[in-house]
Amino acid sequence: MNHLLLRVFLNPYADIFTDDPKNNVSEYIYEKLDKNLHLQTNHPLGILKTVIEEYFSMRFKHKPFTFYDDLTPIVSTQANFDSVLVPPGHVSRSSNDTYYVDDNTVLRCHTSAHQLELLKSGARRFLVTGDVYRRDSIDATHFPVFHQMEGVCVFEPQDWEARQLSSLELANSELKITLEGLVRHLFGEIQMRWVDAYFPFTEPSYELEIFFNGEWLEVLGCGVMQKSILDEASLGNHRAWAFGLGLERLAMILFDIPDIRLFWSTDLRFSKQFKAGMFRAGGVGMQKFSSYSKFPPCYKDVSFWLAKDSTRFTENTLCELVRDVAGNLIEEVKLIDEFYNPKLDQTSNCFRFTYRSMERSLTDDEVNQLQEQVRSRLVDELDVTLR
Ligand code: PHE
Repeated sequence: MNHLLLRVFLNPYADIFTDDPKNNVSEYIYEKLDKNLHLQTNHPLGILKTVIEEYFSMRFKHKPFTFYDDLTPIVSTQANFDSVLVPPGHVSRSSNDTYYVDDNTVLRCHTSAHQLELLKSGARRFLVTGDVYRRDSIDATHFPVFHQMEGVCVFEPQDWEARQLSSLELANSELKITLEGLVRHLFGEIQMRWVDAYFPFTEPSYELEIFFNGEWLEVLGCGVMQKSILDEASLGNHRAWAFGLGLERLAMILFDIPDIRLFWSTDLRFSKQFKAGMFRAGGVGMQKFSSYSKFPPCYKDVSFWLAKDSTRFTENTLCELVRDVAGNLIEEVKLIDEFYNPKLDQTSNCFRFTYRSMERSLTDDEVNQLQEQVRSRLVDELDVTLR
C-alpha cells in the first residue's frame, strides 16, 4: 500500500476523498481532519476550551449547559448555510471561500452549522467546540483550519414574564451579561465595548471588543437568534441568544502566542509550556509562552500575467496551492505589486512568499525546491504566465 493510501485508510474521514468536480479539499487540509487540537487537554486550545466550559458550568449551575466537542466537521450545505439563513449567492458559499466535498457537502466554516440540528434534537443550552475550515490568505494570524466555540441559550415565556421584560429585552440583556462575565473570567478586569455587527442568523447582532495592549480587539460575534430559526425548530414562542468565538485568536492574546502555526507544532519547546490548569484570568501570575528563537525567513518573489479568459487564479487558490506544497513552512503570502498593461490588455501580479520554519533553519536547496514546485503548479493549475 502506498503512503497516501495508508494515510487515507487510517483516517476516519477517508470518504471525503471523492473525485467530484466540486471537491477542493487538498491533502494538506484532509490531514487536519482527525487532529482535534481542542480535545488535547494540555494544548492551549484545549486549556482555553476547558476554562470557558468551567465558566458556563459555574454561571448556569442550575440550568446546565451541555458541551458538544465531537460533532463531525463534514456537514451539508443546508446545515452550514441555509439553516442559518446565509442567502443564496453569498460569497461565503463560493468554492473560493469554502472547502467543498461535493455539491451538497462542505467542511463547516463555522460552528453555527450545528445550531438548528441541536435545537431540533431538544438541546436548549449548549456549547459546541470544533475545528472549522476556511480558504483564506496566509499570514501569522490566518490558518485554513481553526477552532470555534459556539454558545446557544433558549428562553421560554415564563423566563421573561417573571422579569416583566419583553422576550427581546431578556435575551439581549442575558446575552450581554453572560458574555461580559466570560470576558472577565478570561481577562480579569478589562475595558470592553459592544459594537453593532451583522450576521444573517441574529438580530440584533454585536461584536464584543476588549481594550488590550493599547488597541481595541474583537473577541467574539453574537446576537439574538432570528425567530425563523426557532420556528424551524418548533420553538416559535421562544427566544434565544447565540455567540461564536475563535479559540486561536483568544489563545494568541491570552498566552502571548505570536504565530497561528504554532498551535499545530509538535515541537516539545512549544508543547511543554502548556499544562491543563495553568490558566489564570488576565494572565496574572501565569507563565506566558516564551518564544524560542525565531529561525531566519527566506523570501521568494514570483511575478506573472493573469490569463484574460480564465477565472482560475484567485489569491485564496494561490494560497491553497502554496500550503499544499509547503505545508507549515509558509509564513506569509503577500501581493506586493499589481499593474494593468493596456497595450497587452493584461494584468500582472507580483507576490512575495515568506518561508520560515517554526522549528529549524531551512536550507536554500529546500526552499528553492518548494518555490520551483509552486511556480510550475501555478502555470499548470492557475493558467498564469510567469514573467
Ligand atoms: N458564526 C459566526 C462567525 O463565524 C459567529 C457567530 C455565532 C455570530 C453565533 C453570531 C452568533 O463569524
